[in-house]
Amino acid sequence: MESLLLCALVLVLGVTVTAQLCPKRCVCQNLSPSIAILCAKTGLLFVPPFIDRRTVELRLTDNFITSVRKRDFANMTSLVHLTLSRNTISQIMPHSFGDLRGLRALHLDSNRLTKLVDAHLRGLVNLRHLILNNNQLNAISADSFDDFVTSLEDLDLSYNNLEDLPWTTIGRMTNVNTLSLDHNLIDFVPEGTFSNLHKLARLDMTSNKLHKLPPDPLFLRVRMYAKTKGSPLSSLVLSFGGNPLHCNCELLWLRRLTREDDLETCASPPHLMGKYFWFIPEEEFVCEPPLITRHTTKTFVMEGQSATLKCKAVGDPDPSVHWTSPEGRLISNSSRATTYENGTLRLLIASPKDTGGFTCFASNAAGESMAEVELVVNPLPHLANGTGGIKEADPGSSDITTSVRAGSSLPAVREDRVGHGLDVGEERQLRVEQDTEVPDWR
Ligand SMILES: *[C@@H]1O[C@H](CO)[C@@H](O)[C@H](O)[C@H]1NC(C)=O
Ligand SMILES: *[C@@H]1O[C@H](CO)[C@@H](O)[C@H](O)[C@H]1NC(C)=O
Ligand SMILES: *[C@@H]1O[C@H](CO)[C@@H](O)[C@H](O)[C@H]1NC(C)=O
Ligand SMILES: *[C@@H]1O[C@H](CO)[C@@H](O)[C@H](O)[C@H]1NC(C)=O
Repeated sequence: MESLLLCALVLVLGVTVTAQLCPKRCVCQNLSPSIAILCAKTGLLFVPPFIDRRTVELRLTDNFITSVRKRDFANMTSLVHLTLSRNTISQIMPHSFGDLRGLRALHLDSNRLTKLVDAHLRGLVNLRHLILNNNQLNAISADSFDDFVTSLEDLDLSYNNLEDLPWTTIGRMTNVNTLSLDHNLIDFVPEGTFSNLHKLARLDMTSNKLHKLPPDPLFLRVRMYAKTKGSPLSSLVLSFGGNPLHCNCELLWLRRLTREDDLETCASPPHLMGKYFWFIPEEEFVCEPPLITRHTTKTFVMEGQSATLKCKAVGDPDPSVHWTSPEGRLISNSSRATTYENGTLRLLIASPKDTGGFTCFASNAAGESMAEVELVVNPLPHLANGTGGIKEADPGSSDITTSVRAGSSLPAVREDRVGHGLDVGEERQLRVEQDTEVPDWR
C-alpha cells in the first residue's frame, strides 16, 4: 500500500513538478531562501517522503499519520518549525528527530502518544517549544528532555495521564517560561523543584491530584510583584485550582501570597471543604500535633520469639512514627526488626538483651509526642545438660504455660537456639496483663 502510493507519487511528481518537490495536495511556498510546506487536512497516512530537505517550516496538521519513522525527517537540518498536531501518532521510532539540529518548535499535540523514552526526542539540541498536550502520556523517562533542557522555553504537557514527571530534569530547565502541567494526575511535587527556574512566568497545575504544594522560594515572586504593582518585571502566574487541597498549616505559605483572583477551593479538612482558599482566614490553616491514641503496654515474650510493639497516632498532617531502642538508638529495618508505616515495630527474634523500655515517637509538622513501651524477654529454660528432659513450669499457674504446651514447639525452639539460627515461623507472642505472674523458667 505504502509503496504503491509512493510509486503514484513519484509518477505525479515526475511529470508535474521537477524544479521543486512539493507533495501532492500540499502548499509549498518558496520564499527564498526559506521553504515552507503546508499539508493540513490532506489525508496523509504517513509523512510524505519527497520533501525538500532544505525545508524550514513543515506543517502536517489534521492528517492520519500513525507513526514517525527514522527516515521521515532525515537530513532536515534547516527545519525550524515542525507541526504534527491532530494526527493519530502513537509511535515515534527512536532517533526520528535526530537530524533536526535547528528545530525550535515541535508540535505533537492531539495525538495518541502514551509514553516518551530517552531516544524519542534525541538530537533536538535547539528546541524551545515542545507541545505535547492532549495525548495519553502516562510516563516520561528521566532523560527524555536531556538534549534541550537548557534551551526549552515552553513545555506543554497538559491533558495527559501523567501521575509523575521527571522533576529533577524539569528543575534544570533554566530558560523555561511556561510550564503547562494542568489536567493530569499529578499528586506530588518534590520540594525545591522550581527553585532555579528564574524565568518561569506561568506555572499551570490546575486539575491534578495535589493535596499540597511544597513552599518554593520562586513562588514568593507571586507576592513580591503583586505588591509592587506596575513592576516592569513579569510576575509569576501560578494556577492550581481543581486540586484536592488539604488546607492545613502546610499550605499557610501559599495562603499568605495575597492573591484573590482564582477560585481555588479546599477539599479537606472537613470543616473547610468546598470553601474558597483565598477567603479562609489564615488562622484556620492549622495543623494538629500528634496524639498517640493507642500503644502496646508492657509486653512479655520468650527468648527467640517475635515481639510486636504497636503505636498508633493521629494528627494533621498524618504523623510518622519511629522507634528507639532501650539504649536510645533509632530502629530501622534490619534482619532483626521491621518498622511498619502504621507504627508497628516487630522484633523478629527477641533476645533477653532486648529487655527494656522502647520509645515510640510520633511526629508531624506541628510537633511530636512519645510513649514508652516496656518489653520483657524471658530467657528460655536452661535444661539439665544431656538429659533431654524438659522441666515443666508449674502447670495451671498462668496461661503462658498452657499456650506454650499447646504449641508443643518448645523443643524445636531449643534446637534452633543451640544452632544460633532461630527461625520462628509463626508468631507465638504471649501478651499478658501487667499484673499477671510470670513463671520462672529457670
Ligand atoms: C541524507 O544524507 C545522506 C548523506 O548525504 C544520504 O546518504 C541519505 O540518502 C540522505 N537521506 C535522505 C532521506 O535524504
Ligand atoms: C520496613 O519494611 C516494611 C516491610 O517490608 C515496609 O513496609 C516499611 O516501609 C519499611 N520501613 C522503612 C522505614 O523503610
Ligand atoms: C501494621 O502493618 C503490618 C504490616 O502490614 C500488619 O501486619 C499489622 O497488623 C498492622 N498493625 C496495625 C495495628 O494495623
Ligand atoms: C551445659 O553445658 C555447657 C557446655 O557444654 C556449659 O557451658 C553450660 O554451663 C551447661 N549448663 C548447665 C545448666 O549446666
